[in-house]
This record gives sequence, C-alpha cells and structure tokens, in this order.
Amino acid sequence: MTLPHPPTPAPSPAAPGGLFVSFEGGDGAGKSTQSRLLGDWLTGLGRTVVLTREPGGTELGRVLRREVLHGGHVDPRTEALLYAADRAHHVASLVRPALAAGSVVVTDRYLDSSVAYQGSGRDLGAQEVEDLSLWATGGLLPALTVLLDLDPAAGLGRLSARADQPDRLESAGDDFHRRTREAFLARAAADPGRWLVLDAARPVDEIAADVRARVGALLEHAAGGAR
Ligand code: TYD
Repeated sequence: MTLPHPPTPAPSPAAPGGLFVSFEGGDGAGKSTQSRLLGDWLTGLGRTVVLTREPGGTELGRVLRREVLHGGHVDPRTEALLYAADRAHHVASLVRPALAAGSVVVTDRYLDSSVAYQGSGRDLGAQEVEDLSLWATGGLLPALTVLLDLDPAAGLGRLSARADQPDRLESAGDDFHRRTREAFLARAAADPGRWLVLDAARPVDEIAADVRARVGALLEHAAGGAR
C-alpha cells in the first residue's frame, strides 16, 4: 500500500517584507564575521535583523548541533537527517515568523551546506539531499546566498590557529573538503541570481563592502516593488 503524502511545495523566495540571506562556505572562511558585519550595517539602516545559524539556531537545534558535531559516530544518512531536522525546526519556529514580521534574517549556513557537505562530501547525492531540505523547509530559499570561497587548506589552517578541537566535519579529510568546495562553486555558477561568490582570502572590509552592495540592491528592489 502506498501512503498518501502531501506534495513538496515549489521553492519560493522569502515572504514579502522580510529578506532572507545566507552565508555559505568552508570552515574558517569568515562566515560568522561577515554575518555580524552585515547585521550591524542593516541595524544601522533601521532594519530589524535576526542573526542566526545552522546547525543550532534554536534550543532544539543546539541539542542536535552538539550531537551531530561532537557526538558519537553516525552514518551519513543519519547525519543528513539530523541537519534536516535542525533546519525544519529552525525555519518553522524562527526564520519564517521573523520574515513574516518583516525582519532581515541572516543565517550562517543553510540548505546549501547540506547539499555540499552531505550530498557531495558524503556522497549521498546532491539532488536527494536538496529534496530532503526543501521538504523540511516547505521550499524556503534565501533571496541571496553569499559564498565565501576559500582553499580548504587555508580555512582549516585558520581554525587550527584557534584553540577549539576540530569537530567531526572539520576532521573529515582533504578530499571531502575539496568536494564540498567544488559543490558550492558549481551550485553558485548554476544560479547566479541567488548567489554572490566572493574570494574569502581578501580583506574583511572589502568583502563586507561587496556584500552590502548586493544586499543594498535587493532592499532597493524590494522597496521599488512595494511602491
Ligand atoms: P559551523 O557552525 O559553520 O562550524 P563552526 O562554528 O565550528 O565554524 O558548522 C558546523 C559544521 O557543520 C561545518 O563543518 C559544516 C557542517 N554542516 C553540514 O555538514 N551540513 C549542514 O547542513 C550544515 C548546516 C553544516
């Protein structure tokens, strides 16, 4: 017997009024710094900003984050489902309500991390992992995804200069990180309307200026559309 199931909604941009922006890239590429700088700039413009991240943007997400990054071994499918569960709850309980209230939501990682890390890094298949995340989120895609592109050796080198122990993904090996980088770049090239690719080896303030230019254009466009 086949069970009836609801159709997966088509990918859609954020609700009107709000703006949804994600930062993606390898570990140590500077996503959290750039998210914060963008948030500060938007707040200065008078926008309400929600800065968040995956995994771990909610209370349940923090439990899942601890398990998926620092818990015992899990197989790749379980890992993909844990990230998808974190994302489903994050979107339903935090991202969609904030967008509906007109906020700018800036997330440090989103669905494209799953496609790159689990789909290509773990070899589960990009399309299947994307479909899983689109189902989990009801099809919510960012209006803009900023890829901070960096040679994985440089990114992991930046991280090892910090005191933290590498997490399970950071320890996954050079080939894994090369595949995730290539997957991010290929996704970005296939959808330039959603993506902005920046060389993360450039100075922080230059990168931030490029991000502001693109987000500023989106805000203007949204304001024009609302007139
Ligand atoms: P992140 O929070 O960027 O790491 P840190 O705070 O240590 O800089 O992400 C944690 C790890 O989770 C990172 O190695 C990438 C991985 N990840 C996935 O594999 N799939 C996903 O869907 C997400 C969101 C993250």
